[in-house]
Amino acid sequence: HLPVDVDISHLAPGQQMTAVWQGKPVFIIRRTPEDLNRLQDAALITQLRDPESDAHQQPDYTRNWHRSLVPEYGVYVGICTHLGCVPTYVKDGAGAPAGGLYGCPCHGSRFDLAGRVFKGVPAPYNLPVPPHAMPDPSTIRLG
Ligand code: FES
Repeated sequence: HLPVDVDISHLAPGQQMTAVWQGKPVFIIRRTPEDLNRLQDAALITQLRDPESDAHQQPDYTRNWHRSLVPEYGVYVGICTHLGCVPTYVKDGAGAPAGGLYGCPCHGSRFDLAGRVFKGVPAPYNLPVPPHAMPDPSTIRLG
């Protein structure tokens, strides 16, 4: 597979987009400073099943609190780790904790804005992180 370059120049803070890589949806989210603060919030972390992502597939350079190359941009395979539905980005409200989440329409699994699964839902682990790079500030290269 060749790498896929995704133009993120139009992505405003607080927005997300879905790219396609190896036939899979990949969520790219541009997180605000508030979103990033929440990802480190102890009250949120206690609600997560695997906050350190010990169980999963992610490149070594994303083994950090924001699960990505740079904190501002989160990049996650958009396939629920339960039975493979595509979660929906919910920015605020609609049952989302402050700052939004990804909710799976099939059986209610919920993931935070770093793709980390909440406790008490069917999905067994966090959304995977695909290999990615930023060859320039407006491009995310998948693969
Ligand atoms: Fe997402 Fe079942 S496929 S909760």
